[in-house]
Amino acid sequence: MKKTKIISLPDLNEARAKKDKINYIHQDIVYDEFLANFLNGKKYLIKTHGCQANQRDSETLAGMLDFYKMTSTDDPHDADIIIINTCAVRENAEDKVFGEIGNLKALKEANKDLIICVCGCMVLQSHIISKLIDTYKQVDLIFGTHNIPEFLNLLKQAIIENIRLVNVISSAGDVFEINADDRKDSYKAFVNISYGCDKFCAYCIVPYTRGRERSRLKEDILNEVNCLIKKGYKEITLLGQNVNSYGKDLYKDYDFSNLLEDVAKTGIERLRFITSHPWDFNDKMIDVISKYDNIMKYIHLPVQSGSTRILKLMNRRYTKQDYLNLVDKLRSKIKNLSLSTDIIVGFPNETEEDFQETLDLVDKVKYDSAFTFIYSKRVGTPAAKINDTVSDKEKSERFLRLVKKLEEYISKKAETYVGTIQKVLVDGFSKKNKNILSGYTEDNKLVNFKGDPSKIGKIIKVKIIESHTYSLIGEEVDE
Ligand code: SAH
Ligand code: SF4
Ligand code: F3S
Repeated sequence: MKKTKIISLPDLNEARAKKDKINYIHQDIVYDEFLANFLNGKKYLIKTHGCQANQRDSETLAGMLDFYKMTSTDDPHDADIIIINTCAVRENAEDKVFGEIGNLKALKEANKDLIICVCGCMVLQSHIISKLIDTYKQVDLIFGTHNIPEFLNLLKQAIIENIRLVNVISSAGDVFEINADDRKDSYKAFVNISYGCDKFCAYCIVPYTRGRERSRLKEDILNEVNCLIKKGYKEITLLGQNVNSYGKDLYKDYDFSNLLEDVAKTGIERLRFITSHPWDFNDKMIDVISKYDNIMKYIHLPVQSGSTRILKLMNRRYTKQDYLNLVDKLRSKIKNLSLSTDIIVGFPNETEEDFQETLDLVDKVKYDSAFTFIYSKRVGTPAAKINDTVSDKEKSERFLRLVKKLEEYISKKAETYVGTIQKVLVDGFSKKNKNILSGYTEDNKLVNFKGDPSKIGKIIKVKIIESHTYSLIGEEVDE
């Protein structure tokens, strides 16, 4: 049995602390003879859970392994290194990861040389680390979201010393610009604009797993966008837990509206951004969105609850009325705006009246799409300390009632697309039918359609002939 060596363990208090100074570090991969010999020709598999922040991190990790001429595989039996990039946002996400790591035990027993790494948001929690160390002996390397820049060194150390290695720091690190990039797609890309979150919503673990908010330098963002455009990318999504607060930590008079405008001016064909927090959405941002045709008229604006009482307990910093006012303003200034949201059902002690407020808000906003979640208790967050009296059964019933209402509006909206011609960025073959292509409209509706596979990665016109709640059916039309 290998020995476990712990370099650093996570600590929620450290995660909470704001650093006085953030350093901006531009880092190239330094060629290492040992790794070159060891990794050359081997295969890796990266399994990514959670949000786009994790997807970007996985792309960076893939870039580091590609540097050493490794290739990726989808087959765990074929892999020499398996990396599980985890999400901690809800308990069911964590259960899935434990199941997956559990399944790797047999593989490790059959192949002692297999290296299993676990990273991402889950490991920023000390109770998860204990469980991994004690129960999941097949795991060789555990590293946190702030330890990604040193991944290759940690891997080397674990191999050379033949140990199980744990290095998870919690203190929000510096901003690293790592010259390692292996993007999943060749025509659409996520571009980080900020890391972490300063909002500390009472239910949410993200500020602890991703650290305090740090904006990237505008020059680095614009450089990245321009490089992507040169490579032929058609769509860029600016990424942050709260894009609207971009720059507050960094500049006096340059905010998200300025960045959005500068990125729009690069001429990228499609520009998107997620996630918007209602609190930081200002008029300048709305003006820029309406002014530029290449900024997609789709906003993901999580509301979480329609009850002002619950919003206050959630520490969301707006009331139901504030949110509705913002939606009215957005809709009046941005033509044909498509709106989506996130809603949590069953926050501790949510009453039927609170829930009715959420249903009422949905009636008023009539979302184009929505993500709904049942509240999940996260160790260490303020909401976890509240003694909750609402039963799971009640929460599940409310959840179903909410989904039913949302789906009525989503279906009705989807019907209005039938007969229209939509511009679709073609993603590839549909998951369910290999003869059908799929892609997204400008306002982020999924379309499955008959068309020419040579158009994958291009923006084409599709006539919509049928609608379902969560997708449209169409046919490619000639230019
Ligand atoms: N920064 C983004 C994304 C956060 S995580 C934002 O603020 O919107 C994505 C969604 O997960 C959240 O919007 C919220 O609806 C949901 N979520 C976060 N913590 C949760 C919890 N403890 N239980 C249930 N849902 C949660
Ligand atoms: Fe979590 Fe709130 Fe930050 Fe979103 S804004 S990541 S919900 S703390
Ligand atoms: Fe999950 Fe971490 Fe994203 S907790 S939602 S992967 S920031």
